[in-house]
Amino acid sequence: MTDFSMFMGQILRRPGQVVALAPSSAALCAEMTAGLDPTKGAVIELGAGTGVITQAILDRGIAPHDLHTIEMNPVFHSHLKHHFAGVNHHQMSAADVGDLGLHNVQAVISGLPLLSMPLSLQTAILRGSFAQLARDARYVQFTYGWTPPVARALRDDMGLGWERSARIWFKMPPARVYRFFRNIPTH
Ligand SMILES: C[S@@+](CC[C@H](N)C(=O)[O-])C[C@H]1O[C@@H](n2cnc3c(N)ncnc32)[C@H](O)[C@@H]1O
Repeated sequence: MTDFSMFMGQILRRPGQVVALAPSSAALCAEMTAGLDPTKGAVIELGAGTGVITQAILDRGIAPHDLHTIEMNPVFHSHLKHHFAGVNHHQMSAADVGDLGLHNVQAVISGLPLLSMPLSLQTAILRGSFAQLARDARYVQFTYGWTPPVARALRDDMGLGWERSARIWFKMPPARVYRFFRNIPTH
């Protein structure tokens, strides 16, 4: 089975979790992984699916033992374990990312359908992620939507700022990549 047919099969079985028309394109993967640095330690990937962004993270020089993938779908999780040896693969909900117990993580790279998730789930994912991230590190999230993919109430509550990429048009529904960071108090 190709990665694409496995992805399509899981869309039909679990449409509420996969929420995409196809795996991420090369242009999107490049933007999602921009700035990753092999000397800066661990990276967490949420919603790794068939592993297209996983591969892009490794292609940036991140050592397999520094990468943690979280994927709740058992078919995708088995596929990831088979194809990416040496990477730390966790079959669990991203809501439990805070349980990984990591520190000074350089980036959380999320392929999750965050916009379609309820606020309580977004809150668990964002709070758990920032608990592991280094102080000035980014939570990276793509979206097909026109607004920031983290609910405004949650951004305000957590004091999150964001930067965003240009819209990525090539070969897919147009997407944008947002990088969320903690605003550092000036007083
Ligand atoms: C839009 S697909 C993205 C797949 C891949 N990262 C890509 O960019 O092609 C979303 C992925 O998130 C996973 N997912 C959805 N909700 C999740 C959750 N709460 N915890 C962990 N994984 C989740 C789905 O199983 C699916 O693999």
